[in-house]
Amino acid sequence: MAARAEDLRDPSAAGSAGSGRGGAEGSGGSAGLGAPRAPGVFGEDGEFGERAALAADAEDSVCRREEFLLPPAPASCGYSEVAYFAGNSLGLQPRAVRAALSAELDDWALHAVEGHHRAAHPWLPYHAELREDAAALVGAAPEETVVMNSLTVNLHLMMATFYRPAGERTRIVIEDHAFSSDSYAVRSQAVHHGLDPDETVVRLRPRPGEDCLRTEDIVDYLAREGHRVALVLLGGVNYLTGEFLDIPAVTAAGHAAGCVVGWDLAHAAGNVPLALHDWDVDFAAWCSYKYLNAGPGAVAGCFVHRRHVTDPELPRLAGWWSTEQATRFEMRPELVPVPTADAWQISNPPILAMAPVRVSLRMFAETGMAALRERSLALTGYLERLLAEVARDRPLEIVTPADPARRGAQLSLRVIGGADAADAAAVAARLHETHGVLADVRRPDVIRLAPVPMYSTFHDCWRAAAALAEEVNPV
Ligand SMILES: Cc1ncc(COP(=O)(O)O)c(C=O)c1O
Repeated sequence: MAARAEDLRDPSAAGSAGSGRGGAEGSGGSAGLGAPRAPGVFGEDGEFGERAALAADAEDSVCRREEFLLPPAPASCGYSEVAYFAGNSLGLQPRAVRAALSAELDDWALHAVEGHHRAAHPWLPYHAELREDAAALVGAAPEETVVMNSLTVNLHLMMATFYRPAGERTRIVIEDHAFSSDSYAVRSQAVHHGLDPDETVVRLRPRPGEDCLRTEDIVDYLAREGHRVALVLLGGVNYLTGEFLDIPAVTAAGHAAGCVVGWDLAHAAGNVPLALHDWDVDFAAWCSYKYLNAGPGAVAGCFVHRRHVTDPELPRLAGWWSTEQATRFEMRPELVPVPTADAWQISNPPILAMAPVRVSLRMFAETGMAALRERSLALTGYLERLLAEVARDRPLEIVTPADPARRGAQLSLRVIGGADAADAAAVAARLHETHGVLADVRRPDVIRLAPVPMYSTFHDCWRAAAALAEEVNPV
């Protein structure tokens, strides 16, 4: 049964403001009858009203909000916890992480060097314990995935193997809206190979007046110019627009033109369903601190297709964790290659940093990407309807594709008009300070809102829309 809206403004009332599970500590986040101001259609009743959001949460069985720690909201906003929409930047802390870290510290204290074999999760094969869950997350075979390093480092390791410019085939194709780190990485790879980065790196632009790339335009470019392209390296979900590219279509087009095709899945892993093996992707890398909730700078993930992991001739940068485990401590001068993605590991893994990734990947394996995607489609679709209503008479536009198949959880909202009318950064600051709604800004004019299916609620979405309606004046 749907909770009554006014119950949820009473901190002593049972139930939660939108967790959909009810009664969990810290799952609600409202305090003080009538504290939140909800203008117009974002009042209590009706299609866009608070009751409808609460009713949707009450029916939900996938959300695991009570297993996460939510930051407190500014005291004056009337809620005790923020409505968190920045999980596409840094995911919330799972409560289980502290115990997992503590357990590793205890094992270190108890076993010291013997912890490599005697810890509850032995450190020597620690990365192998994460393999199956990581593989399931991205649609890969276990031997195709490895959890290691950080995202940009892994992109470089992948490019050390897969970016082999030769003859006229030297170009690296990225999107014009590539994340800056990827841009720096590919330019430095060009320089590393003695090439001019301005000539080598091609940045694909959306059509004039459009924000997102069209699959047909990427495919068309590769059909025309692919013979000059050594590597296609695109973001699976774009960090700015939230566009989910057609990975299988682009990968196939790249292969047809003889290119290697790799993917930066920072905004895709844990957000959208992936089938990297079946899509024939050459390699992919992702971070674990966004949708995967494994903490700031968390250890990242990497995928290398089976046809490559079984090829011992591929050039790789190596270290002692690249060799087979059985003979690692024989200290031979030459390594024994392993036919898995482990071959790209270099150093022994940072166990204290791996523990949160283990916790996080387990949560994804338990809930499953299929259930999360289903919830995500409902949640993001709901937020989109609310934002469209807010934008109807305000200087706002959603730049994320309207087709749910071409986006994940993130909706990017452009604030039209700039400084005098409504500056995106100022709006986002007021959303937080006045309403406890935490989104982020990509300058100059985009506010990103990501309702994360693992922990965000329909009521969070309602809070965001009601707050925006109040903070951006109608025109
Ligand atoms: C799309 C994308 N690529 C690369 C990075 C850089 O990641 P890292 O600092 O983990 O290498 C980020 C960080 O947010 C990102 O969003």
